[in-house]
Amino acid sequence: AETKKIAVIAGDGIGPEVVAEAEKIIKRTEEVFGYSFTTEHALFGGIAIDEKGTPLPEETLSVCKSADAVLLGAVGGPKWDNNSKELRPETGLLGIRKELGLFSNLRPAVIFDCLKDASTLKPEVLEGTDLMVVRELTGGIYFGEKFRREGAGGEEAVDTCVYNTAEIERIVHQAFEIAQKRRKKLASVDKANVLETSRLWRETVNRIAPEYPDVELEHVLVDNCAMQLLRRPSSFDVIVTENMFGDILSDEAAMLTGSIGMLASASMGEGAFGLYEPVHGSAPDIAGQGLANPIATILSVALMYRLTFGYEDAADAIERAVAEVLDAGHRTADIAVDKSKALSTTEMGDLIAAAIR
Ligand code: NAD
Ligand code: IPM
Ligand code: MN
Repeated sequence: AETKKIAVIAGDGIGPEVVAEAEKIIKRTEEVFGYSFTTEHALFGGIAIDEKGTPLPEETLSVCKSADAVLLGAVGGPKWDNNSKELRPETGLLGIRKELGLFSNLRPAVIFDCLKDASTLKPEVLEGTDLMVVRELTGGIYFGEKFRREGAGGEEAVDTCVYNTAEIERIVHQAFEIAQKRRKKLASVDKANVLETSRLWRETVNRIAPEYPDVELEHVLVDNCAMQLLRRPSSFDVIVTENMFGDILSDEAAMLTGSIGMLASASMGEGAFGLYEPVHGSAPDIAGQGLANPIATILSVALMYRLTFGYEDAADAIERAVAEVLDAGHRTADIAVDKSKALSTTEMGDLIAAAIR
């Protein structure tokens, strides 16, 4: 196969730790399946602020643009939390998503049978849970105008939430298409009882829906959705929602799987190019201790193989290897019942790599 280029931006905290394990998996799939990759590393996030004075250096952006796909760890940490907006790691993350046109963030939450005891929910509630959050990623309150001003009650802060029809249409079409390839159920989540952006969202979804008559559509208000996710998670198939609701609901969905350390994500635009990252952050509380679960990042590589490269065999092999290692009882601390027997980040990565064949 032809050589593909992966830009690797490890970031901060546990980012470099989990990305190192994902790179092991990439190497292993080269050996086993004969695929060929070059990886190019670039600075991103807090470490880029420290070394280059900006969270998203031009050079990093061009490394990403010249690659076929991007593998990202996580950014952020207390060291940069009091910085101005321009000098925050998170601003770099929003910038890279916007610059690369990645408006669609896919966050699958699948319950591995043997992890039912790792979730805080009852096993019988989790039975059969297999859902996908499709989160709009480059619009809404994250990207609207923000400012401070003097008001009657002292200083005021303003965040504006803006969505236009075209932005809603493209993500909703993607969500319907994904639903068609799954169990053909789509829940569109909004706050149309209060927000104007949500009313435009719902109108747009309803206008598009007749193009997908085979997909069963329901509208769910976001507060109800947060509750239903815990009450009847297995009844959801695809959930499509705006940026901030998707951020919050996908962390909630993570706990269905047992740990946020399990949840992978793909950020896509119109084509095959994608950015792949775990849903979790830089976890400053456990960084540098070898405690991080690398599975979310490893499963993000499987998404990369499937969605960008079409390497279904290697994607399947990664997912099978993760299931096999978990089935054999191996656990990192976040998903372990007996924490004293927990594996380190690298031990887990090694076991999964060895199980790929
Ligand atoms: P977090 O996801 O980093 O951590 C939340 C909790 O989950 C912590 O207790 C952490 O130890 C645990 N956790 C996270 N990933 C884990 C893993 N792989 N294995 C085991 N445990 C794991 O969220 P937070 O604490 O709210 O944020 C920390 C920093 O990360 C902040 O600076 C935030 O802005 C940033 N962040 C970055 C991203 C990203 O880069 N995509 C995502 C979320 C948060
Ligand atoms: C995520 C993170 C980011 C987001 C932050 C760090 C900007 O929470 O990727 O889910 O809110 O999108
Ligand atoms: Mn988040």
